[in-house]
Amino acid sequence: MSQTGNNERAVFATRFGAIATTVGSAVGLGNIWRFPYEAGIHGGGAFMICYVAFVFLIGIPLLCAEFAMGRGTRSNIFGAYKKLRPTHNWHLAGYIGILASLLILSFYSVVAGWTVEYFISSVFGNLNFSDAEAGHRLFMELTTGWRPLEWTIVFLALNFLILIGGVTKGIERASNILMPLLFVILIAFCINSFTLPGFGEGISFLFHPDFSKITPSVLLGALGQAFFSLSLGLGCMMTYGSYFKSDNRIARTATTTAVLDSLVAVLAGVIIFPAVFSFGLSPEAGPALVFEVLPFIFSHLVGGGVWSALFFLLLFLASLTSTVSMSEISITYFCEEKKWSRRKATIVSSLIALAGGVLCALSFGPLSHMKIFGMTAFSLFDYVSSNICLPVGGFVCSIFVGWFVDVRFLRGQIKMHSTAGRFVLRLLVFCLRWICPMAILLILLNSVGFIG
Ligand code: PFF
Repeated sequence: MSQTGNNERAVFATRFGAIATTVGSAVGLGNIWRFPYEAGIHGGGAFMICYVAFVFLIGIPLLCAEFAMGRGTRSNIFGAYKKLRPTHNWHLAGYIGILASLLILSFYSVVAGWTVEYFISSVFGNLNFSDAEAGHRLFMELTTGWRPLEWTIVFLALNFLILIGGVTKGIERASNILMPLLFVILIAFCINSFTLPGFGEGISFLFHPDFSKITPSVLLGALGQAFFSLSLGLGCMMTYGSYFKSDNRIARTATTTAVLDSLVAVLAGVIIFPAVFSFGLSPEAGPALVFEVLPFIFSHLVGGGVWSALFFLLLFLASLTSTVSMSEISITYFCEEKKWSRRKATIVSSLIALAGGVLCALSFGPLSHMKIFGMTAFSLFDYVSSNICLPVGGFVCSIFVGWFVDVRFLRGQIKMHSTAGRFVLRLLVFCLRWICPMAILLILLNSVGFIG
């Protein structure tokens, strides 16, 4: 992306760059950390099947809608709604997006901070152990107390420096090389999974759905995960769409993003669950799951320390490309709607995220007793943003594009430089009008009063 001047809009120079950056936003901790732990607590296969269905039925149509709104208006989430429907208050949906982005940035930075901590521990050879207790002890040691606060601050500071220094271009270039490398490493770990004694059990846990386990909580969890993983429902993809050139084939970019993103999540599952069953751990360990299981996998590999350092470094970079994209939502809003300088917008957004980040970082230690609705700040921020704000944002977007914007707008955007036929267009409009809003509404209503 080339950032010009102070408040001028940037554009992605090439089609590949646009896809790589969009995938860079989508692929991150959501796939490798959040997907396995959500699948673990929600019954494995039952969760997986709902997740995949939501990615294809809701995720791809909504990605197309967000990209079209962004590119068609060349605006942030507020501006996009306002330009398409100036006389109504649709743009208020932008507040949900901004709230969600800041909540996510707060807890995401804590987990990204853990990746830095694990990277450093790998470099110093402290992650090489092989009994279950040791993995758990290390996780507790690194994540409780005041220590995670330091890494959260370091991570947010880095994110800030990248945004303010206009070096997003450098990060994108680096991620164009490093993300494929992450992919290769994941495949290598997957192959290693075949050799584990718990391979069969892990694979059957993940891919064998027990339909009786599909409860409102599983549906909501899978819906939230699909939105979180695709960076959907909060205006992130809309903002990125606003940087697309007219030769970008929106439907193709949406499908590529969704497929690659889901593939990374499935690979993460194939790596984690066989190891969970091989080492006698519980799939329901929650946010700690991946951090407790991965070091085990490394300790069984030749040159485990090197694999581990490389893996956590790449995971850290993947988190950074995601946080840069979520920060962009509030920054473009402040710049374009409030006419702030990019510098001021970046400082204010980062300070808000820092305040939230402090609460989340301490919620495993000194603030673990501070609970709202039975949840710590960390879990609450995650739950409210992923399971409420993002689906609500997606609901509004689908109703808006499906019913309130002239259908010629969407058609025009999808057909631009593309050979998408009538069937694809009809299917897309049908999904946006009926499938997305009805499914989201039913799931949200079904789970009202259901937390956990
Ligand atoms: N999709 C990212 C991940 O899976 O890690 C997280 C994310 C990025 C969520 C950007 C929201 C967002 F706007």
